[in-house]
Amino acid sequence: MADFPSLSRRSFLRQSFAFSAVAALRPGTLLAQGGFVAPNPASQHMFMIGDWGTDKYIDQQRAVASSMARWGQNNRSAPGAMFLLGDNWYGHMHDGVNDARWKTQFEDMYPANLFPGPAYAVLGNHDYEKRTFDKAQIQIDYPRQKKTRWTMPDRHYTFKYPEKDPIVTFICLDSNLPGTKEFDFTLSSYVMSHRDADAQDQWFAAELAKPRTTPFVAVIAHHPLFTNGIHRDNRTLIQRWDGLLRQHKVDLYITGHDHDLQHIEFDGHPTSFVISGGGGAELVNWSIPPEKRGPFGDRVIGFTHLEMAKDALVVRHVGAQANQLHAFRKTPDGKMAIL
Ligand SMILES: [Fe+2]
Repeated sequence: MADFPSLSRRSFLRQSFAFSAVAALRPGTLLAQGGFVAPNPASQHMFMIGDWGTDKYIDQQRAVASSMARWGQNNRSAPGAMFLLGDNWYGHMHDGVNDARWKTQFEDMYPANLFPGPAYAVLGNHDYEKRTFDKAQIQIDYPRQKKTRWTMPDRHYTFKYPEKDPIVTFICLDSNLPGTKEFDFTLSSYVMSHRDADAQDQWFAAELAKPRTTPFVAVIAHHPLFTNGIHRDNRTLIQRWDGLLRQHKVDLYITGHDHDLQHIEFDGHPTSFVISGGGGAELVNWSIPPEKRGPFGDRVIGFTHLEMAKDALVVRHVGAQANQLHAFRKTPDGKMAIL
């Protein structure tokens, strides 16, 4: 595998502490906690959750949903859209597109009066399990059969947000590539063929090669390229996609998969890597202490708030008590600053 050094110690320390009015460290967690910068209600707002469709930890899912509602109200930053970062449905969906879980764990869990916009979804490994139904296909079929905020036109797709005077081009990918499975998922119903994976890569490269029409480009998928969590860095994804992220100066690569909240930077790499896998499922351990490769990681449930304006993106990780854990700003010149 190519060598991807993390931030130099000097950069790491500078990012972790110099931007912070208060820096608090606790074992196993790097909490680069600075002065709170309130979201600007006049910006565009999107809330993101990964690994949320649990069949075992509904109380945790509910706690995060409640935190999202409170955070939006407290900060007058109601989201215009949500992002569902994969592992949307753990366990069974016995009745396919008509399963009761669509209502209890999506439509009612994130009520339309608080989250009125589209909920863009990408597929995770658990979405590929074949139970009674092919859980990946029903996620494409569900919005074709009923009026809903659920939005997944295909396994990969792109859109600009907001529609009028857009700020971010989102490229949404299916990261369930051949060779990406760390475990033997005997329940998998669909394994992407090499031909499909190559076709997606061609499409991805072509989308990136189009002239930019927005100040920012974000790539959304389920599997991280780099993670300090149990799933570890993904050699297949690094080989396929890291060169494209670098070449086209992608601003953000946002995923779930590890059940925690992370932010990873590398010296000289234009892309900020964000993991938001705290939507409800059980928490998991670190494989690399986040103190060693950061600037941030916390083993908590929670969500990620993406604030969008033409002159800056602000990414905030928020815990289950509507409490900000970490925030950084990205400007169109590619600079990143921890808030
Ligand atoms: Fe996953």
